[in-house]
Amino acid sequence: MLAVLVNGALGRMGREVLKAVSAESDMRLAGAVDIAASGENVADIINIKSDLVVENDLEKVLADKNPQVVVDFTLPDAVMGNLRVILAQGVRAVVGTTGFSKDDLAELERLARDNSTAVLIAPNFSVGANIMMRLAEAAAKFLPQAEIIELHHDKKMDAPSGTAIATAERVVRARGGCVKQGHPDEREKLAGARGAKIAGVRIHSVRLPGYVAHQEIIFGGLGETLVIRHDSNSRECFMPGVILACRAIAKYNGLIYGLDQIMG
Ligand SMILES: NC(=O)c1ccc[n+]([C@@H]2O[C@H](COP(=O)([O-])OP(=O)(O)OC[C@H]3O[C@@H](n4cnc5c(N)ncnc54)[C@H](O)[C@@H]3O)[C@@H](O)[C@H]2O)c1
Repeated sequence: MLAVLVNGALGRMGREVLKAVSAESDMRLAGAVDIAASGENVADIINIKSDLVVENDLEKVLADKNPQVVVDFTLPDAVMGNLRVILAQGVRAVVGTTGFSKDDLAELERLARDNSTAVLIAPNFSVGANIMMRLAEAAAKFLPQAEIIELHHDKKMDAPSGTAIATAERVVRARGGCVKQGHPDEREKLAGARGAKIAGVRIHSVRLPGYVAHQEIIFGGLGETLVIRHDSNSRECFMPGVILACRAIAKYNGLIYGLDQIMG
């Protein structure tokens, strides 16, 4: 049984991870940690049989419960501190928390290797969203021009989404350079009308209540268009990717960036 500890267990994603891990027959919830915890029972949070209590001292819980993998869905300001503690103990980490800089990633690669362990960071754990990016890469080799529309709930603070940026970068890489879009002499009568430009690809961000996370890549060719669309309709969609990563990470050392890396 793979022993998995959930860090950020009281958060929206952390609660989903508690449910997902406890539903797997080859995994067991080894611990639950959240900085805001004050003795909550895991059984009450996710309606399962469990003696686990959510605790707030990650270092102590790691020492007491000895997990093989920690899943971290906390907050950008907290995650590097958490990972320094986790990796120093030689424990593997599966991370959905966002907001890493290039320097952070270099430090994590070093920390993981120095402690003979691994950290997998996936900005998007949805299997479907990762396949969407692969399909976009494949299409970009043949269809010369693409624009991206990403649509999210209105609580999202950043625009464009990280997934849209990553998709644009992959499309450009697959084309071997900048993608031509629109008329060379086009001009915006209203600033922003043509969207933002990332790596030469136009991205249009929609923010409305009712959406979760959605993206379309529209490819235009001679007399044809191709639309690749992905919809995340609930946070559950991230869980198959998290479970996949928990199982796969035992085989790795160092930093693995992106779910795509372990999807075969
Ligand atoms: N990679 C993905 O596929 C994916 C998908 C959705 C969200 N996210 C990211 O996951 C993160 C969490 O999102 P959320 O919606 O669950 O947020 P949330 O605010 O609902 O939950 C975060 C939880 O982390 C806890 N926390 C904060 N600092 C902590 C610390 N030092 N130690 C332990 N716990 C701590 C908070 O108390 C809170 O319960 C965000 O960065 C978000 O962008 C990633």
